Amino acid sequence: MKKAAMILDRDFTIGQVDPRMYGSFIEHLGRAVYGGIYEPGHPTADKNGFREDVIQKVRELGIPVVRYPGGNFVSGFNWEDSVGPRDQRPKRLDLAWGTTETNEVGLHEFAEWARKANTEIMYAVNLGTRGADAARNVVEYANHKGGSYWSDLRIKNGAKNPFGIKLWCLGNEMDGPWQLGSWEKDPSGYGVLCNEASKAMKWIDASIETAVCGSSAPFMEHFPEWDEKVLDQCYDTVDYLSVHHYHSAQPGDIKSLLGGSLYYEDFINTEAAMIEYVASKHRSPKKVKISFDEYGAMVRPFSPLNPGYGRYNMARSHYKFDPERRYILHDPDNMTDRVFPGGDMLHLLSMASIQLALLRHADVVKVGCMTGGLGALCASNHDHVWKAASHYAFRQLIDYARGISMETKVDSETYDMPGYAIDDTSQYTGKEGVNYIDSASAWDKEHDRLTVFVINRSETQEYPIDLDIKGFEGYNSYEHVEIYSPDFDAKNAYGEDIIVPKENKEGKLEDGVFTTHVKPLSWNVITFTK
Ligand code: AHR
Repeated sequence: MKKAAMILDRDFTIGQVDPRMYGSFIEHLGRAVYGGIYEPGHPTADKNGFREDVIQKVRELGIPVVRYPGGNFVSGFNWEDSVGPRDQRPKRLDLAWGTTETNEVGLHEFAEWARKANTEIMYAVNLGTRGADAARNVVEYANHKGGSYWSDLRIKNGAKNPFGIKLWCLGNEMDGPWQLGSWEKDPSGYGVLCNEASKAMKWIDASIETAVCGSSAPFMEHFPEWDEKVLDQCYDTVDYLSVHHYHSAQPGDIKSLLGGSLYYEDFINTEAAMIEYVASKHRSPKKVKISFDEYGAMVRPFSPLNPGYGRYNMARSHYKFDPERRYILHDPDNMTDRVFPGGDMLHLLSMASIQLALLRHADVVKVGCMTGGLGALCASNHDHVWKAASHYAFRQLIDYARGISMETKVDSETYDMPGYAIDDTSQYTGKEGVNYIDSASAWDKEHDRLTVFVINRSETQEYPIDLDIKGFEGYNSYEHVEIYSPDFDAKNAYGEDIIVPKENKEGKLEDGVFTTHVKPLSWNVITFTK
């Protein structure tokens, strides 16, 4: 077994970490909102029906930004339905998820929830079934101080002060054939629409930033041409390219699950290069950045392939008339508890590995929203809310991945990931030489703190590491905190915090080299201070 060698130097900088890098995504979907954060019959429910116990945990976590209200949901959503007296709001069929949307939770309520949870909203407008007019109106409603039709309506509806929403998504996954009002077949048309919508939105509030949709996944057949055609039309008026990806591996294939971050890096690198190309084409000094506002990793068994149908099989079921579609009306007080497959460590490591990939690209990736984030980080059932292991790791990223992202050279044992396909859509090429030691670092100059995050992807091998920080003179104090569970299937539960960060005291720092061990399938945060 080879010792892992790591090296950091103060000159090897990547870029400034945006504080919105570790945010979350919440959609009107399943029991994320109704029966998740909103349960009017719950003993801790506030006047709007939101669970205070959940708010408290989200607040403790310190999530900087939450993307809302969708997701696919937003592409059929009329924002106007979600404001005004609650008992007069229309019930609408939600075509994306086959439910009935009551609009009980709307813009005012969610803004109040976000205020209490101490987080910022990233609000998505509907550019599927609607256009620039609805988009500019919601900006006027939410952000204009008063004296105009929409802003006065907000005041009349009870909010004297504007909500001040700074980040706006121009639709959701508009390249996806599954999307209501998809622009899959007309990227330039979508780009022109975004140019006009973004321009109008910014004429109302010049302080906002907008994110235009790129490809929904690197698997999309039209990736990256679609993205380029879109951006070509709106380069001057938008700030971010919004990208999404969900990585999958089969049950038991932990190596491929944790190696998934490599596909994220390929995706980011391609989009960053495409952005550079469009910027050059436009002779523009401006650099559009990336908002990775949906991501996740999941364990999925193989599903039968359908040779000949191509890569769009994923979308076929969306076109089909489904006689089972009943437009269920969810009762938020009586929804089935959501159970995440796998133990807490699996979720922590598979998400953290992606989050480290985002950190390694902090020069271009400025916003990140983890899918299912709130429910997974602040796990809850009808009675309680508790901290899943991921809560602790995410909190460490929020707290310590600050300042400048630093290059972290790793020389460790490696493994090869053979290519595999989960279904026609999710096809992964093989990767050779995947480091067992996955790492990223941040240097917070303001607090004189260098933090190195380390995942050991090996299921069996504890690795000794030599971490060379000679370039950081004076950083002589250190702390190594690890999250590790000998039982990989274990989960935290209410009142049973078994997977928590613990100090590892084995390390030694001598002549600028820190030596320690990282346990198999563990998450490690090593901080150096003066
Ligand atoms: O998170 C569920 C769905 O996944 C979102 O609505 C959509 O944007 C993505 O395809």
